[in-house]
Amino acid sequence: MSEPHVESDVDLFSPDVVADPFPVLAEIREKSAAVYMSKYDFWLLSRYEDVREATGDWEAFTSARGVALRQDFNDFLKGGVLANDPPEHDRLRAILSDKLAPRALKDVRDDIQEYATVVAAEHTYKGNFDGYKDVAAVYPINVISDLIGLPIEEREKFHPGADATFAGFGPITQYLEEHFQEMVTYQQWIPTMADRSKLTPGKWGAVMLDAVDEGRIGLDDAVASLNAYLTAGMDTTVNALSATFALFAGRPEIWSAVREDRGLLRQVLEEVLRLESPVTGFFRIATRDIQIDGTPIPAGGRIMLHWAAANRDPRHYPDPDTFDLHRNPLDHLAFGYGTHGCPGRGIAILEMTALFEAFIPLVEEFELSGPVVRGKNPVVRSLDAVPLTVKAI
Ligand code: HEM
Repeated sequence: MSEPHVESDVDLFSPDVVADPFPVLAEIREKSAAVYMSKYDFWLLSRYEDVREATGDWEAFTSARGVALRQDFNDFLKGGVLANDPPEHDRLRAILSDKLAPRALKDVRDDIQEYATVVAAEHTYKGNFDGYKDVAAVYPINVISDLIGLPIEEREKFHPGADATFAGFGPITQYLEEHFQEMVTYQQWIPTMADRSKLTPGKWGAVMLDAVDEGRIGLDDAVASLNAYLTAGMDTTVNALSATFALFAGRPEIWSAVREDRGLLRQVLEEVLRLESPVTGFFRIATRDIQIDGTPIPAGGRIMLHWAAANRDPRHYPDPDTFDLHRNPLDHLAFGYGTHGCPGRGIAILEMTALFEAFIPLVEEFELSGPVVRGKNPVVRSLDAVPLTVKAI
């Protein structure tokens, strides 16, 4: 039976909520399975089971009509893997599926480990560094850019551009306005890379151009997909790494436990991803009238799938706001789920594991040398500073 819908006028993208979103999200999650967010005219799903089911059901919750809040941004995203449904989505995603399959990761593992070893040694030697600015905002940018086959020049622009692009998925905020030019510069640069003379042969970018030459996809779709892989491959891992540094420095017993048993590292990373959920949530459009636990959502309604809120739903994760070393939450939704579930999950875990494994033989303890500063991006959970001192072995 349908129930009248529950509304909230909370602005999830306001600086106050972005600074500390989880108490607000917990309150909304308890009101109803689907809450109409009146300020921006969308429905919020925040309970684990509902978010997982909706994320997996592309037929009822389409991405092709928009994964962002604003229509102008959805028009801009059109064509790529992110903003498409099957069969077009699957055709685009298949282009790089060989490169991202587990067996292909074996081929890139050595290079990533080698680079991680250099990064860890260099920063341990320095003794003081910022986990966000000096490592998290540099290392994954170079890993993903090398995998795509991009030139070395101008890489410093990539992360600010990707971060601002993520902010574009939400409403016009002061943050977006302040970072708008970085987004424009980055977005104007991406299409200029669809040029063989700039791309390393055999890498992801060149493979996409091969698909264009073979008539399997159009050039615009290749550029939109290249944008999705580069943008999604950076800011996300940057924020997950920053949060892991902050955890190890704030909770030295967890770093000690990992040093004693390397097997724990993977589950620490999954628990950080559950708690942080760097991509808080994207949007979908209902293709038909939908009932979420009795609440009707009309066809055409915009819905936010809030992965960060779902990952802290006490119905699914007991004591959800607590870091639990032994929880090993492999079913968390930080990478989405189903058709659009993150194709970079394996790479992201590989990058994160390689980096902290490289620190294990070098660092006895990470200590905070100043306050951890939370970032202000309204769509991705980020950190702006994780100042560290290392106690070297
Ligand atoms: C910790 C790191 C990462 C997190 C938290 C993350 C999170 C996500 C999430 C939540 C989605 C689902 C989007 C949706 O359903 O609309 C997604 C999709 C995607 N991710 Fe990741 N991601 C990460 C790393 C990466 C990396 C390293 C790459 C590069 C290979 C990447 C490339 C993509 C792409 C291309 C999509 C779109 C897939 C599709 O629509 O089929 N991500 N990611």
